[in-house]
Amino acid sequence: MTYAHIVGWGKYVPSKVVSNADLSKTVDTSDEWIVSRTGIRERRVAGPKETSATMGFIAAKQALDVAGVLPIDVDLIICATATPEYSFPATASVIQDMLGAPKAGAFDLSAGCSGFVYALSIGSQIIQGGGHQVVLIIGTETLSRITNWNDRGTCILFGDGAGAMVLKASADPGGVLSSLVRSDGSGGDLLMVPAGGSHMPTSAETVLQGLHWIQMNGREVFRFAARVVDKATREVVERAGLTLDDIQLFVPHQANLRIIHAAARSLELNEDRIFVNLDRYGNTSSASIPIAVCEAVECGRVQPGDKLVLVGFGAGLTWAAAVIEWGVPEPLRKRNIIERTLRIVIYPVAAIRSRVAKFLRRIEARLFGTPSPKRIDKDGKKK
Ligand code: COA
Repeated sequence: MTYAHIVGWGKYVPSKVVSNADLSKTVDTSDEWIVSRTGIRERRVAGPKETSATMGFIAAKQALDVAGVLPIDVDLIICATATPEYSFPATASVIQDMLGAPKAGAFDLSAGCSGFVYALSIGSQIIQGGGHQVVLIIGTETLSRITNWNDRGTCILFGDGAGAMVLKASADPGGVLSSLVRSDGSGGDLLMVPAGGSHMPTSAETVLQGLHWIQMNGREVFRFAARVVDKATREVVERAGLTLDDIQLFVPHQANLRIIHAAARSLELNEDRIFVNLDRYGNTSSASIPIAVCEAVECGRVQPGDKLVLVGFGAGLTWAAAVIEWGVPEPLRKRNIIERTLRIVIYPVAAIRSRVAKFLRRIEARLFGTPSPKRIDKDGKKK
């Protein structure tokens, strides 16, 4: 039997902090209101050069480093995001190029804030089925780019960041013990970005109406979330053949402290068994759970052998949960000089390789007459 172990983890958050006091200068709100209704005190916002791909890349690099895995060994990259770099190509492919992972397949996964747990579930099942040995999963978001900063009902909630994990095949029992993924598309309109897709392509009109921003029915989403966290947690723990008492730490999606407290009450869990960091980051959608797990590990809340429940919920509507057994990470071997040098040069070399590949493609197009890719302007003319 093959098990999927989590052997590496990494996170990235932008350095720019936006506090509740900062928001209260631009919209009619207050620190007191935001803290009492959500638990959020501040959030991180990406700088002009930071995107879902650049942040996901940094988190992925860290995760590979912790795992002692080189990009060349990665078989598959799954990037969960609601704020992809482009409609296409996939952000996962952009990150694959940045990492220089030549044999990796790559695709994006759209399941709202449940995306990372979906990726964990799918990635681990591919490994357990013998399909791949090493799967890199990433949750990365620049929600600040789709947030209407004049809408006090949503702008107080969201933040930017990225998290990643490396899943690796092992014959030793452990790793991802059980998982589930669910959806109820009838609630899709409760949390959405209405324009920009095939249903309502972007136009001057949609932009004027602000339909490219997040729209949310906060109360309904709240009710849905409180219900599914309890249900999914119980089901996934049972699937793993465990009881709630066997779980050392619960890491729910960091959306709202009141949702987390409501779930804790119905699951009869003490708050010290639940990890919370939303006060500092707000809701970072698919990045929230991997960022939280990284911080839980950093501050000693996770020990080898501990069992964790991860539960995500969000747009779709979707929800997902997983039970993981935290393995003893492969001891960080003292790396010899060659390995250390390799890790320093590998990413600049990947960037050069990417540029050379683009250059050669242009030369080839000139020599053999294949049309080189050109951008088309709004009048349909090639630029
Ligand atoms: N500051 C001050 N007042 C605000 C406000 C803000 N930022 N946002 C809304 N209000 C006002 C409303 O206008 C309303 O005023 P009214 O009674 O005069 O009409 C009042 O506060 C209550 O609004 P309501 O929407 O009922 O508040 P709420 O208690 O449901 O809290 C949320 C709003 C958004 C914080 C809450 O519904 C929530 O967190 N929902 C879940 C959202 C979520 O997690 N989404 C992501 C899921 S992945």
